[in-house]
Amino acid sequence: MRGLAQPAQMLTPELESLIARLPKAELHLHIEGSLEPELLFALAGRNGVKIPFRTVEEVRVAYRFSNLQDFLDIYYQGMAVLLTEQDFFDLTWAYLTRAKSDQVRHVEIFFDPQGHTQRGVAFDTVLSGIERALKTAEAQLGITYRLIMCFLRHLSEEEAFATLDEAMPHLARIHGVGLDSSELGHPPAKFARVFARARELGLHVVAHAGEEGPSEYVEEALDLLNVERIDHGNRALDDAALVRRIAREGLTLTVCPLSNLRLCVIGDMAQSPVARMLEQGLKATINSDDPAYFGGYVNDNYRAVAAALGLSAAQIVQLAENSFTGSFLPPEDVARHLAAVREAAR
Ligand code: ADE
Ligand code: ZN
Repeated sequence: MRGLAQPAQMLTPELESLIARLPKAELHLHIEGSLEPELLFALAGRNGVKIPFRTVEEVRVAYRFSNLQDFLDIYYQGMAVLLTEQDFFDLTWAYLTRAKSDQVRHVEIFFDPQGHTQRGVAFDTVLSGIERALKTAEAQLGITYRLIMCFLRHLSEEEAFATLDEAMPHLARIHGVGLDSSELGHPPAKFARVFARARELGLHVVAHAGEEGPSEYVEEALDLLNVERIDHGNRALDDAALVRRIAREGLTLTVCPLSNLRLCVIGDMAQSPVARMLEQGLKATINSDDPAYFGGYVNDNYRAVAAALGLSAAQIVQLAENSFTGSFLPPEDVARHLAAVREAAR
């Protein structure tokens, strides 16, 4: 049932205003995916890195993807301009100031160290630049954070272990591990031992599962990686027993509507799983994934999905609440944010 585009519905001014003012957390954001074309050009110039585009327009044309791999090829290419601690600071700071205007109060950010260390950029350079921006945002913008280091699943288990080793001296600065990149053919099972080690080290664990991969990958992420949260999780809906299990265990899913649309995981926004997840008792959240590549930040994602699915005010508030209950914040902070959500919703 692809291709029959639903006419986009208009959001009422009341729902527009609700989305704009609700405090929210963003739980699924790849910092390298927030590299806007303008910053790509600025950093390419600053670092003398050649890129295959001459204009922002050319970049936008290249950002037409027909699947996840199409996007990943461009995403890894874009990383080539990120070389210095200042580059990683500038990238992260640009995202955080943008998030502030969407009333984001807490972020749990992914970074892909292997995308940088493989190019000869030191782990500490990457981490220090990102962390300096996060700390500055905490002090100046009131945005709290957690940092999640992802393993690239198209690389080997051995390379993931080497990355975990490299992270060891910095573990006090990293809160969790995740699993991203090309999903098909790289099931969670491949990283069961690395995740077991990460859990022993006291790290939180999450994984992308069921974005392009089947519901069995979601099940494996639960059974073999013991994930605390599922990134995307769309295909979990193919298996009713799995849906019941996820609901029973109270796991949060970090759904990324514009990403799903731009990577052709769904044919149009009306096929977004967000409403079906909520209706089946799943703790869905709304996130931007790679906003510079997919045409929108977190509020754009709320607006797009609310318009296409005709979400109610109560469902929109539920999504914002889920973003805090699904975070790795301590209960007292979650409670404070939930009170703020309810206050803003009145
Ligand atoms: N890396 C960055 N964005 C991703 C996505 N949506 N899926 C898998 N890996 C990614
Ligand atoms: Zn992602």
